[in-house]
Amino acid sequence: MSMYDDIEKVLLTEEQIRARVKSLGAEMNAIYSDDDLPLLVCILKGAFMFLGDLTRHLNFRHELDFMEISSYGKSTKSSGIVRILLDLESSIEGRHVVIVEDIVDTGYTLDYILRNLGTRHPATLRVVTLLNKPSRREVEVPVDFSGFEIPDEFVLGYGLDYAEQYRNLPFIGVLKPEVYGKI
Ligand code: PRP
Repeated sequence: MSMYDDIEKVLLTEEQIRARVKSLGAEMNAIYSDDDLPLLVCILKGAFMFLGDLTRHLNFRHELDFMEISSYGKSTKSSGIVRILLDLESSIEGRHVVIVEDIVDTGYTLDYILRNLGTRHPATLRVVTLLNKPSRREVEVPVDFSGFEIPDEFVLGYGLDYAEQYRNLPFIGVLKPEVYGKI
């Protein structure tokens, strides 16, 4: 059985993602210039693939850094309790910072990141996310560049996982219900 057999449907094809990531890059190219030298902050692990594609569409000079955030599990996620597993290498004081996320769901993770990075006095702090689930939002968060608004379904692929697997799928898909519990 291939992992592709576990997929019930493809929500966003490789081609749709490629086209939208390119146009998100164009939106950002219209905002930033070389002089800004923005720092893109990739939120691991889910955003690694999006970052890899997005950065190749940006025509202004920029730098990359990485941050990993963990919630204490789904049940406590609604309490907004998250912690930093990996922090930035660089200081962001006075820098133009762009947070790169794969998905904004309840908003708790992004809210935490924005508040945390906000205390470090960046010049500007913006957010780009590939996927956005506004119907799930529990805390209001600003999203400056948003790829796709998607319905409230559990999605994976293109960096997003189920039980740490399926991140390598080139599309965004939904698992067959019978797969849950088997992995
Ligand atoms: C996902 C995603 C966001 C967060 C969004 O990360 O990458 O960071 O959840 O959910 P929220 O809006 O409800 O807070 P996850 O905790 O699954 O970690 P991962 O990226 O390492 O898979």
